[in-house]
Amino acid sequence: MSQIKFAYWVPNVSGGLVVSKIEQRTSWDIDYNRKLAQLAEANGFDYALSQIRFTAGYGAEFQHEPVAFSHALLAATTRLKVIAAILPGPWNPAVAAKQIATIDQLSGGRVAVNIVSGWFKGEFQAIGEPWLEHDERYRRSEEFIRALKGIWTSDSFSFRGDFYRFSDYTLKPKPLQQPHPEIFQGGSSRAARDMASRVSDWYFTNGNTVEGIKAQIDDIRAKAAANQHSVKIGVNAFVIARETEEEARAVLAEIIEKADPEAVNAFGDAVKQAGKASPEGEGNWAKSTFEDLVQYNDGFKTNLIGTPRQIAERIVALKAVGVDLILTGFLHYHEEVVYFGQQVLPLVRELEARQATEAVAA
Ligand SMILES: Cc1cc2nc3c(=O)[nH]c(=O)nc-3n(C[C@H](O)[C@H](O)[C@H](O)COP(=O)(O)O)c2cc1C
Repeated sequence: MSQIKFAYWVPNVSGGLVVSKIEQRTSWDIDYNRKLAQLAEANGFDYALSQIRFTAGYGAEFQHEPVAFSHALLAATTRLKVIAAILPGPWNPAVAAKQIATIDQLSGGRVAVNIVSGWFKGEFQAIGEPWLEHDERYRRSEEFIRALKGIWTSDSFSFRGDFYRFSDYTLKPKPLQQPHPEIFQGGSSRAARDMASRVSDWYFTNGNTVEGIKAQIDDIRAKAAANQHSVKIGVNAFVIARETEEEARAVLAEIIEKADPEAVNAFGDAVKQAGKASPEGEGNWAKSTFEDLVQYNDGFKTNLIGTPRQIAERIVALKAVGVDLILTGFLHYHEEVVYFGQQVLPLVRELEARQATEAVAA
């Protein structure tokens, strides 16, 4: 029986995971983050995901670079896998492949990448990077992933794409992980789903209802099967686990009540503008309300808000529609990662084991 996996968003940018003035006992500094990574791996988390932001905006005044930061977290841990976000455009695949191969060697094979396609036009303008329209960003990301795989798995790699070119390139040393470090991608639009069904190992999507996630998974799995490709699914969720449901709901209400409306609305405008060119209007944030946007990636929608038992039951319901991993965020990371590991995770494992026994009996 495969167990559902857990990841957490690394708070490597300031301001935490919600755009709110509520107290957050979370810090973006390296000491806090090293300790967090150690707590997470001791409490059942499999992965940590670091984020890429080049400039401030909508909170996040300070941002540590994710590849370097991920390496520091790998050096401070022994089992945790760390996923570094990489943004095609600013990154070129030759540099990324080389950086990640070296980190894979240095970390005993524990690094992974999250190829993101970008939502923040202002950031691209600030660093002088051309801003491509939505589906073109995905075309570039797909070439980027094909280039990474080619460089990591073959010698004398040649590639002639519209964005990248390689001629008889041989990378040495190759990454330790075989066939290559895992490749995640972030986004929910049709272009994102199509790319996942062709090249990525993992599809990461924003928070959503079970039905909303099921619709995406059914679409991706059907397309992937036609391409003879297999892809796993990770879903974002902002977790508020408290002893009673009332307490958890009160925390959510306070986060929203203390939201910074200017920052949330500006963020909403930017992300909707970024997705406008996605013709079918199904991308991340296409249907997000003000309240949803207080958590950058619609993490409230997944509704992992309540008692440990309620949360465990909802996680198992997500697993039942095909989710392989829950990407978590928390208000007070150190305390809540431990609480989650001690109070929620054992219930998830119990429910998973019961379901497996029932399946055998049936
Ligand atoms: C789990 C997850 C993580 C993401 N991480 C980042 C990131 O670190 N930096 C970034 O610029 N965008 C990040 N994104 C946003 C994507 O780059 C993309 O712009 C966004 O999801 C919209 O894509 P869509 O139009 O295909 O839905 C992330 C998205 C998801 C779902």
